[in-house]
Amino acid sequence: MTEETINEGDAADGGGAGGVAEADRDALLAAHVIRAVGVKKVYELGGEKVHALRGVDLSIARREYVSIMGPSGSGKSTLFNMIGGLDKPDEGQVFIDEVDIAALDNFELAWLRCHKIGYIFQTFNLILVASALENVMMPMMFGGMPEADARDKAAGLLRRVGLGHRLLNKPSQLSGGQQQRVAVARALANDPAIVLADEPTGNLDLKTGEEIIALLESLKHEFDTTVISATHDHKMLAASDRVVYLTDGRITDIKHREELNIQFGQIESQDDDAEERS
Ligand SMILES: Nc1ncnc2c1ncn2[C@@H]1O[C@H](COP(=O)(O)OP(=O)(O)OP(=O)(O)O)[C@@H](O)[C@H]1O
Ligand SMILES: [Mg+2]
Repeated sequence: MTEETINEGDAADGGGAGGVAEADRDALLAAHVIRAVGVKKVYELGGEKVHALRGVDLSIARREYVSIMGPSGSGKSTLFNMIGGLDKPDEGQVFIDEVDIAALDNFELAWLRCHKIGYIFQTFNLILVASALENVMMPMMFGGMPEADARDKAAGLLRRVGLGHRLLNKPSQLSGGQQQRVAVARALANDPAIVLADEPTGNLDLKTGEEIIALLESLKHEFDTTVISATHDHKMLAASDRVVYLTDGRITDIKHREELNIQFGQIESQDDDAEERS
């Protein structure tokens, strides 16, 4: 079977050529916090070319919760690096809040990363010698916030993620789930428009993972952020407004919440059947 690339234009909401008035078009664009257009990325490894992304078109609306699903090596992290401004595409463009990130110099890109995006990684990526509080303060200090304000805000965020009693613990003195909560608080430090979470539950047991996803979902509403999360785990899809399936560097399917509810219901009832049998 040849995988067909799903082009977002194919599924667009009726905006045919010339059909959308300019004002509507501007409103539509403003609603998209991220647009990837024809993004390609090729890595060279030992003289061999690895086509990590083969032309990805993806627009993500403000306040959407999008999960990126796909097998290992399908290009999820590569796509994250592109839409998070951590790497640049070989071809195509990435717009963050309608800014073409290729047009930014290093200083502007660093500013955008610091203020617009919060990052959460599978391995937490906390500073090991710093306390939970200092870890959360760090992006605010980079952003130029006075230390006392950063301290207050970090403590508030840590209380919000349920760690008010662990402010001074270092990462080694926290469980995996607690460390990821610190990372969630850190991601929210500068009130980002976008939270990017690359396999945020990959190193956690199922229950702790579900708690992190539920936390991300509730914070999305509270902090008015867009959440984009890569995951392998079908159980984690319930929180999603949309799931984007990546296969071998291409988007091969996109499912919306309504379809997912049906799918999720089936998964749940299969689980129930399994429980009844056991
Ligand atoms: N720095 C690199 N140099 C060479 N090849 C790379 C590099 N980074 C990724 N790749 C290759 O690009 C492809 C996509 O990798 P990517 O890390 O984006 O996959 P992924 O979907 O995130 O996988 P996983 O679920 O295992 O994290 C893979 O074939 C990988 O080996
Ligand atoms: Mg990855």
